[in-house]
Amino acid sequence: MEPVHLIVNGNAVSAAADPETPLLDILRNQLGLMGTKFGCGLEQCGCCMVLVDGIPEKSCGKLLSAVAGKEIVTIEGLGTPERPHLLQQTFIDEQAGQCGYCLPGILISAKALLDRNPSPSRKEIAEALDDNICRCGSHIRILRAVERAARLMREGAVR
Ligand code: FES
Ligand code: FES
Repeated sequence: MEPVHLIVNGNAVSAAADPETPLLDILRNQLGLMGTKFGCGLEQCGCCMVLVDGIPEKSCGKLLSAVAGKEIVTIEGLGTPERPHLLQQTFIDEQAGQCGYCLPGILISAKALLDRNPSPSRKEIAEALDDNICRCGSHIRILRAVERAARLMREGAVR
């Protein structure tokens, strides 16, 4: 089996697996990146979202062969507990979540949004998060957290 080379959170890695293996399995089971969650496995819930060359994609439906040579960013690539990404901090500040299971995927989608649109309306935020389901019903606080991060970024806070 030819290893597939990709870049994950800035590091070159190679994965030796069936090319039809979902990227989610590679991230969690081979690379030990457990922040990306398995929810439905059917591209319906968004909790497995990662950035693939800057675009949010559901990693449960993305085959290893389709990400060869691509740049992947997972939740571990956003920030650390010591140095959280601004979005991670505003989610904490707004208490935007209960169980937190959906949040890695939501943070990835929110980051992609703010990277391309620093001043999203609430409607645009909701649309950008349309593929992410929060079963705890924290949607309003999640919207507030993204709005707060966008405002702070516009005011000059470091991403
Ligand atoms: S686990 Fe991938 S969309 Fe639900
Ligand atoms: S905080 Fe529990 S699913 Fe979103």
